Amino acid sequence: MQNFSNKNVLLCVTGGIAAYKSAEIIRLFKKDEADVRVVMTESAKEFITPLTLQAVSGNEIHDSLLDIKAESAMGHIELAKWADLILIAPCTADSMSKIVYGRADDLMGALILASNAEIFIAPAMNMNMWLDKTTQENYKTLLSRGFSFIGPAEGEQACGDVGPGRMVEPIKIIELIKSALNQGPLSGKTITITAGPTREQIDPVRFISNNSSGKMGYAMASAAVEAGAIVNLISGPVTLLADKSVNLYKVNSADEMLEMSIKYMEDADVFIGCAAVSDYKSMDISDIKIKKEAADGLNIHLKKNKDILSTIAAKYPSAYHVGFAAETNNVDFNAKEKLVSKKVDMIISNDVSNTAIGFDVDDNEVNVITNKESIFLKKDKKIRIAREILNIISMKINKK
Ligand code: PMT
Repeated sequence: MQNFSNKNVLLCVTGGIAAYKSAEIIRLFKKDEADVRVVMTESAKEFITPLTLQAVSGNEIHDSLLDIKAESAMGHIELAKWADLILIAPCTADSMSKIVYGRADDLMGALILASNAEIFIAPAMNMNMWLDKTTQENYKTLLSRGFSFIGPAEGEQACGDVGPGRMVEPIKIIELIKSALNQGPLSGKTITITAGPTREQIDPVRFISNNSSGKMGYAMASAAVEAGAIVNLISGPVTLLADKSVNLYKVNSADEMLEMSIKYMEDADVFIGCAAVSDYKSMDISDIKIKKEAADGLNIHLKKNKDILSTIAAKYPSAYHVGFAAETNNVDFNAKEKLVSKKVDMIISNDVSNTAIGFDVDDNEVNVITNKESIFLKKDKKIRIAREILNIISMKINKK
């Protein structure tokens, strides 16, 4: 899903300390072109002013069920019908209980009963309140009635306790809603993909690199977005534009790519190493431009870069790991060796001795290899190959 254009979003803010983050939620929805209306409970107004949320949303705040003026402008039934989706953030333990019991003694309670829209709940409360049996029963009841939960996240709480109960950060809430609305086979999954070449500097103006254009990795990222995933794309230096919905992180060297990959695997379900990572880097990067007359010849001492794919596979064993193998001979044999030596779940082999596929062209032809099978995908545009690969990955991880 690209954005929320033409979507009517109803944000219900209830009374918790995380209510101050609701302004950021509104800003992010609006940035993605949603029309946002806000319902505030009485206690929410103790944490953030209606004026603030009115200014950010650009719409009058709705806060009363029995106010004749407000009801004549847009009645609660009308508001319930207007909403394409409802987000309750933050949602307190009290509000969860209220929804379970179908109480309609305030605007939010009445709206929830009257609406057919998809309802997302981002709980926020003290960890003991969240873990309490009653809240957990309410949580299960709401799940069974089709409410979608976002979080809570774990971490330090306003009261100083550490554990589950924090509201998920606004940016992540938006990403997860987008992903949930997109009914693709990877909806709800986060995928981190590397793409393009790396550059290993020798001196300030020269570097070791390769012919990777990033086309295959960027196609994988677009296809993953189409399939509903949240996508982190860690890209070496290329001239391509990434899909708007992709979270793009640009790097130069293999070390930077490794560091970024580790950072963006924290929440990820799948890692796809499509980058052509330099196997070696210079042992000493000269601070000044190396002069031609410095010697008859030039020896550059290289040392091995860390292997990103196998490092990630070892560090995040519960994720699904996919590598690419660019080979010029014994293609599938070498690719299978990489499957085993790098301890990954899948390797995509491409024969880069064939200049019509692989590096810096629009097409590819690959074998998708796991320890059980090998699936041949005949020559096609990289985006179509990427869609097929992601389809296979989604079947594997949804079975896991
Ligand atoms: O970018 P394009 O122009 O579209 O070209 C696409 C491609 C040919 C680059 C792509 O399809 C491809 O094959 N990518 C992997 C290239 C490669 O480096 O292959 P490899 O066999 O050397 O490495 C095997 C795997 O280990 C790869 O997943 C690679 O990302 C990973 N690796 C390698 C070295 C290293 N230090 N760290 C790694 O993670």
